[in-house]
Amino acid sequence: MSEIIQHLTVVEHPLIQHKLTIMRDKATPTAVFRQLLREISQLLAYEVTRGLPMTTKRIETPMQEMDAPTLAGKKLALISILRAGNGLLDGVLELIPSARVGFVGLYRDEETLQPVQYYFKVPEAMEDRLVIAVDPMLATGNSSAAAVDLLKQAGATNIRFLCLLASPEGVARMKEAHPDVPIVTAALDEAIDARGYIVPGLGDAGDRMFGTK
Ligand code: URA
Repeated sequence: MSEIIQHLTVVEHPLIQHKLTIMRDKATPTAVFRQLLREISQLLAYEVTRGLPMTTKRIETPMQEMDAPTLAGKKLALISILRAGNGLLDGVLELIPSARVGFVGLYRDEETLQPVQYYFKVPEAMEDRLVIAVDPMLATGNSSAAAVDLLKQAGATNIRFLCLLASPEGVARMKEAHPDVPIVTAALDEAIDARGYIVPGLGDAGDRMFGTK
């Protein structure tokens, strides 16, 4: 499978940056936030699927026969890291409707501060698929690194990570734990705060997309 070379790709497309600014604004209502996340996820999906292997198939246009390009290999797997990952998943799935879908649920143990798994369900034959893990916020990187550990234990060898915002700490943690996993994001923010939130960020992505508090 062809590869994205860099460990980190920040997609600085004007449409993405414009929509992201509206999402960051705390005055933006839930319905608008959710719609913009769907739109941005489709623009990011374009980038994270760059270089997918291709083959050709023989087709007949109204004019003549031709060997036309088509995606090769097994259907790719989209893995949502619950719960905020579902906001990115919906848009990407609209663009790649044949993808297989999996879910990883992790919570943070308040004593050990380590991620604990509560749900894990992924497609079969992970070793034969390009696996795209989606989570809007790459903050400390601990749960993202743990989720990728689980995907590798399930057999995945070709993994890409798609997020909306990343912190330098999260990128460094992922690079240390999984240097083979390229990250695609809409922005690299300044830092994480003492509670592990990205700043300037956009707040709690799950709360903002689901209207919870
Ligand atoms: N998760 C969020 O939803 N927001 C952050 O800023 C960090 C983690």
